[in-house]
Amino acid sequence: MHFAVLIFASVATMTTFALDNGLMRTPPMGWLAWERFRCDIDCTNDPKNCISENLFIDMADRLYEDGWKELGYVYVNIDDCWASMDRDKDGRLQADPNRFPGGINKLARYMHDRGLKLGIYGDMGTHTCGGYPGTTVDKIDIDAQTFADWEVDMFKFDGCYSNAVEQELGYPLMSKALNATGRPIGYSCSWPAYQGGLPPKVNYTQLGQICNLWRNYGDIQDSWSSVLSIADWFFENQDVLAPAAGPGRWNDPDMLVIGDFGLSMEQSRSQMALWAIMAAPLFMSNDLRTISSGARSILQNKMIISINQDPLGIQGRRILKEKSGIEVFWRPLSNNASALVFFSRRNDMPYRYQTSLSKLNYTTGSYKVTDVYTDQTDVLKDSTEFVVSVNPTGVVMWYVSAPGKLQYHPFIRGNKLHRQTYDTKQNNFL
Ligand SMILES: *[C@@H]1O[C@H](CO)[C@@H](O)[C@H](O)[C@H]1NC(C)=O
Ligand SMILES: *[C@@H]1O[C@H](CO)[C@@H](O)[C@H](O)[C@H]1NC(C)=O
Ligand SMILES: *[C@@H]1O[C@H](CO)[C@@H](O)[C@H](O)[C@H]1NC(C)=O
Ligand SMILES: *[C@@H]1O[C@H](CO)[C@@H](O)[C@H](O)[C@H]1NC(C)=O
Repeated sequence: MHFAVLIFASVATMTTFALDNGLMRTPPMGWLAWERFRCDIDCTNDPKNCISENLFIDMADRLYEDGWKELGYVYVNIDDCWASMDRDKDGRLQADPNRFPGGINKLARYMHDRGLKLGIYGDMGTHTCGGYPGTTVDKIDIDAQTFADWEVDMFKFDGCYSNAVEQELGYPLMSKALNATGRPIGYSCSWPAYQGGLPPKVNYTQLGQICNLWRNYGDIQDSWSSVLSIADWFFENQDVLAPAAGPGRWNDPDMLVIGDFGLSMEQSRSQMALWAIMAAPLFMSNDLRTISSGARSILQNKMIISINQDPLGIQGRRILKEKSGIEVFWRPLSNNASALVFFSRRNDMPYRYQTSLSKLNYTTGSYKVTDVYTDQTDVLKDSTEFVVSVNPTGVVMWYVSAPGKLQYHPFIRGNKLHRQTYDTKQNNFL
């Protein structure tokens, strides 16, 4: 598709309305316990890593003190294994009293005092995936009210131990119940992941109306093969998934595992770049107390974060899959800018990929390009042939500014409306 045509197509989908709670107009950012800390409840032998009040306080302190919060990483999200095995005498969920002695409300206040937000986890079914009390349909109202009473800001609703019929009932009911509490609570639905992630079983129009984000696919693990299989699934199905995303409603390819054990630095840069192209929620699942400076600088890269957070909220796409193993990804951004990612599936050596912006369907003009990882800039005419050197399993990522001073002249070529651009003056950047 032509660059201009893609923008029109994307804008047309924006007439779909999102869940009306005013939240998450850009993809949510923060920290989520699951991938790194799982269901470690052994606070006797592993006090620093067990799922407890202290873990979330530690992470909040790091977000607050180490420059994460200012960049937008504000959610501190509890996942499974926080609850007591029994509901209280009034039928409400309660936190495990040994591991969360202050209760969830105290944690929420700790976050709010620091300009952070608290997320919590539940499950549409008889039990959570970890075997803790679930939220069956009859418990939806009381559980939504409990989370609101605790002043929770986000709720992830998993789907273990329920069937398709119960899910079809429960996920929309929870959306209504959260709304009825009067507290804006971001709503993350795991529903599509339990239904294969694709139509006709999954109705993305409906999801956009009831959830702020949704997990479409399986859980991420701490390995490159996991990151790659998730990225492949999302881009193979981009024609279905990209139109579903927009302000207030996001596809969620799952957590960032940058800073853990499984990815090299190149692969970490690749995950960050591809998640930014996908307009994905950025939930880190790592140990912010001990994270390396290399991983930190990738996760704190301001230009990539601003690409991820672009206010248009258009999810990008893979536009080329070369036989060489190079793939090119593109995302339109506000101010007529765009992002490009050149990704290598190769395992041998840096590959010198030659192309031009016109080959990538950019309209005529001169463009300022900035390499988001090196900060190097260049000015390229659309016709200029250039070479990017892409490392094995790595990326080169560019922010491409709008072309220099422009005039647009619509004209017809091959039955298609194109918009010719001329730069009348020399480049007009800065
Ligand atoms: C460029 O546009 C043409 C015509 O619409 C299309 O066939 C081609 O796949 C596009 N290429 C890229 C890289 O988007
Ligand atoms: C509840 O939904 C109504 C109507 O869609 C909306 O105006 C309101 O802001 C929502 N309230 C909350 C707390 O989500
Ligand atoms: C999908 O959901 C929308 C909104 O709820 C509804 O109008 C539409 O009929 C549904 N589509 C299908 C195929 O069920
Ligand atoms: C973006 O380009 C369009 C033409 O496609 C132009 O009308 C508009 O003014 C430009 N917007 C900005 C912010 O440069």
